[in-house]
Amino acid sequence: MKNKFLGLLVPLVLVFSLVSFNAFDRDEEEYQQASFFKIDSKGELVRPTNYRSWVYVGSPLTPNDLNNGKAAFPEFHNVYIDPVSYKHYKKTGKWRDGTILIKELVSVGGKAAASGNGYFMGDFIGLEATIKSKKHFSKEPGNWAYFSFTNPKGGTLANTSKPFETTQCNSCHNANAADDFVFTQHYPVLRAAKNVGENTVPENSGKR
Ligand code: HEC
Repeated sequence: MKNKFLGLLVPLVLVFSLVSFNAFDRDEEEYQQASFFKIDSKGELVRPTNYRSWVYVGSPLTPNDLNNGKAAFPEFHNVYIDPVSYKHYKKTGKWRDGTILIKELVSVGGKAAASGNGYFMGDFIGLEATIKSKKHFSKEPGNWAYFSFTNPKGGTLANTSKPFETTQCNSCHNANAADDFVFTQHYPVLRAAKNVGENTVPENSGKR
């Protein structure tokens, strides 16, 4: 009786572990391939639309009134990263091939609120992006390419964007960003996430 039970149990456990091992492999593969951007047939980046449901990284602020009336990127920069690359960064501390970061520009809408004086968000005024892709941008330093959908006259964003020349964006990121072209010195969310482990919830602290 006991032997019969074991005789059934052992193959069952074996089959179960094989199935779950394969499922793990498949997950891992999908995870590596998951892409949150599209490059069209002309080599342009199609404007991403769902980024506000990704991971929010921070809001650097370069108000016009601290930049001679016209900041290069006015004014709030709300930065987002795709969730798979965030998870990968937690696991490895590196940007995976296929990373995308979005910088959504928002105007200063007011300088006084019920909470005090300061800078308060107004309207969406622009959208920039960077992606790391060996397949599409093998010649760019670090394989990072930079894009803008911002309409210089204000109003509707462009639907696609050509990559900028290396000297226009990549060079400054290459020279000044703390972690492989990304300005993590300004994003405590990413500093706290680096290498904590894929499934770990980061602590509230995050050193530079
Ligand atoms: C002179 C330096 C400089 C240049 C040139 C520059 N950037 Fe940046 N960029 C920064 C800094 C500093 C930050 C982080 C702080 C901020 O947003 O103000 C940043 C952040 C970003 C981010 C958010 C993700 C990240 O890497 O931190 C994107 C996207 C971005 N820039 C796109 C662009 C694009 C597109 C261009 C070219 C049109 C460009 N940048 C040119 C300095 C630069």
